[in-house]
Amino acid sequence: MVETSDQWIVDRTGIRQRHIAPPEMATSDMAVEAAKIALEARGIPATDLHAIIVCTVTPDMMFPSTACLVQDRIGAKGAFGFDLVAACSGFVYGLTTAAHLVASGEPKKVLVIGADTMSRILNYEDRSTCILFGDGAGAFLVETAEEGQEGFIDYLNEIDGSGGDALKMPAGGSRLPASHETVDQKLHCVHQEGNHVFKYAVSKMAETSRLLLERNGLSVEDIDLFVPHQANRRIILAVAERLGIPLEKVLINIHEYGNTTAATIPLATRDAVAQGRLKNGDLVVFAAVGAGYTVGANLWRWRF
Ligand code: COA
Repeated sequence: MVETSDQWIVDRTGIRQRHIAPPEMATSDMAVEAAKIALEARGIPATDLHAIIVCTVTPDMMFPSTACLVQDRIGAKGAFGFDLVAACSGFVYGLTTAAHLVASGEPKKVLVIGADTMSRILNYEDRSTCILFGDGAGAFLVETAEEGQEGFIDYLNEIDGSGGDALKMPAGGSRLPASHETVDQKLHCVHQEGNHVFKYAVSKMAETSRLLLERNGLSVEDIDLFVPHQANRRIILAVAERLGIPLEKVLINIHEYGNTTAATIPLATRDAVAQGRLKNGDLVVFAAVGAGYTVGANLWRWRF
């Protein structure tokens, strides 16, 4: 489709394969599967959920929200929910939001789902973006900690809208509604200034994670695992170097999935748990930078 090579893609991004949803599968379909797996792993019915947060930039449609579609399909009667749009930082913001919902009042369970079907918004004539993204979904159940147990510890989230032009899908909203022109000009696809995003991602992911640790009196030695958003292997390596964190403590799985936007962190965490790299009681930092710009880091004591 474009002039590129496997060598270029592997060298410049670290991506070896991606997963692409079949035409009949939309974001809510993947989100429902992720939700069911999470509920089954915890052994609770969907009716126990207080809220469902679906982090996505590729909802099935603008409204109803994907959260509503998921709520209905899994039978989470009585739950409320909404979609959270923060691009690649979506899941980190979803975790922060869920933690605060859970902390307010009575014991609660909130399902946070990161799900994106990026293949639907790629321009397969743009070699600088079409090689980066894949489709996927993952979910965390956030619930009230047991008496005396630590769970969510702290967060440092920030948005910087001055970077909005560097990464966007220009059309399809109230500014540029769909028309023949917007379709012809591929304005319903991802547009990115890759270099700008790359530099911002490295400096902000490192800075935010470092500040978050510092203000909690922690250093990288105290952390059991660092789970960064998976946008580019070179971004992750540069962030790890700036933080001074050894690669044994950094989860990298971009070679298997590419950049799945809001789904990278739950997919990476699932792999970390399966590989025995994240265990009950471990201290973990989740960090991301995404379109907006959006920036976020969360510090958690992992419980599972
Ligand atoms: N195959 C071959 N060549 C490619 C290519 C591809 N798929 N994509 C870009 N190139 C070319 C460019 O055209 C350019 O050629 P030129 O020098 O003749 O103009 C050259 O490679 C270098 O381009 P550049 O953009 O400087 O490459 P890069 O090393 O920055 O890598 C990205 C490009 C997109 C992989 C990289 O910038 C990136 O990962 N950015 C961040 C993306 C991201 O994280 N997005 C999501 C936000 S969370």
